[in-house]
This record gives sequence, C-alpha cells and structure tokens, in this order.
Amino acid sequence: MAINTKIFAHRGASHYAPENTLPSFQLAHEMKADGLELDVQLTKDLVPVIIHDENVRRTTNGRGFVQNYTYNELKQLDAGSWYHKRYKHTPIPSLEEFFKWVQNTNMIINLELKTNVIHYPHIEERVNELINHFKLEDQTVISSFNPETIKRMSEINSNIELAWLTQMKIRKVHLLLNDIGAHGIHIKTRLLTSNMIKRILQEKIPFRVYTVNKVKTYYKCESLNAKAIMTDIPDLIQ
Ligand code: G3P
Ligand code: MG
Repeated sequence: MAINTKIFAHRGASHYAPENTLPSFQLAHEMKADGLELDVQLTKDLVPVIIHDENVRRTTNGRGFVQNYTYNELKQLDAGSWYHKRYKHTPIPSLEEFFKWVQNTNMIINLELKTNVIHYPHIEERVNELINHFKLEDQTVISSFNPETIKRMSEINSNIELAWLTQMKIRKVHLLLNDIGAHGIHIKTRLLTSNMIKRILQEKIPFRVYTVNKVKTYYKCESLNAKAIMTDIPDLIQ
C-alpha cells in the first residue's frame, strides 16, 4: 500500500527566505509543509544553534567558526542580509528559540546534527535536554552523517527516532543501521538510481530523500514509498 510521502522544508523554505532562520521556518509552516529540516551546531558556551556551515562567513556578516563564538556574540550577527536586504538583522536562531515557536505547531522536526566536520563534545546531550524540556520527543527525528552521533544519541535516548544520513552507496546498509541504533536512512537523490535503493526496499528500511526540488523526483520518491522528501521549495506540489 502506498504511503503519503511527507514534505519537509529543507533549512526551512530556503528558496524563498534565508536558510535556517525563523522567517524561513515560519514561511514553510504557512506553505503547509509537514516538517522542517534544520542544521544544528554548537557555540563555545555549548548552546545548540541553527546554522548549516561550521563557519559563519557564507550566511552572516561575521567571520570565523561557530565554535569560537559565545551565543551572545553569535546572536548579534545578521543572518538575513546575505539573502535579501528585507531580512536585515535576522539573527541565527538558537535551538531553544526555535523549539519555543515550533511547539505550537504540529510540524515534524528533523534536526540534523552537524558533527561530520567538527566534533562538538556533548552536542547530543545538550540537544536531548532541550527536546525533553519542550516535550518534543514524539515530533522529532534526529539525523547525522556521523554514525558515532547516531550511536551516542541512541544510548542517551532510546525513544527518539534516529536516521543515518548518506550521500554514498554502501553495501550492508541494514547492518550499519542496526549497529548504530538507527531506525532509518536519509539518502541523497542520486542514490535513487543505485542498487542501494533496491537493498533499502528489500530490507524495508524506512527512508527519506534530500534534496528534492523537482515534482518528477517527488513522484518517484512517492512511488518508492519514501517517508518524506526534503525540499527548498515546500510549495513544490501545490
Ligand atoms: O538532512 C538532509 C540534508 O540537509 C543534508 O545535507 O548539507 O543540506 O545539510 P545538507
Ligand atoms: Mg541539513
């Protein structure tokens, strides 16, 4: 039986507003996206914040690495002007600020923990504390390219949904997922044409696909029973 493939806004409605900011999440909500995908890094004083790159240069008016800023310093940066001047002074949101807003919606939350370049000690614990505080466990999926992060998260909280992220083909995918305690996998669109998708389907592994910005690819994912797709254009199907 076919499932309804959900639409997650990738970094928010990032085609229409600056990625990973509250305006882009709010816009995705207005566009009736089912879920939000966002990227989490950690400041010097261990505050989880929402930004894609380890370095603030591409999406703010600042310089240097997130891990070298305190949260108070980081929130002074302008994360909107690079996209358009009407978003001037839009700050980098903390995960806490985001949770305060999203808890009043029924959106699915996909937190991508960005630990594949910089290892942020205790990011898993900090994120878990916030999820518990806001009682968002049932609404949240945690993903990461770093299998160690998924494994640590599964040890900290066995009730939260976990997905390993990959853009590479691997053979014994079910063994890796079992080993790290992942419930599913998030794959890059190009893997849809590889043998790996056959193994995913044979093993009945729950999967989501990123980044799907074409209607035709959405329908392909739907025909394969993907749980969701991540898109920069959450009004893709409308
Ligand atoms: O979570 C899916 C996707 O966001 C992974 O890649 O680089 O866009 O964070 P990236
Ligand atoms: Mg991401």
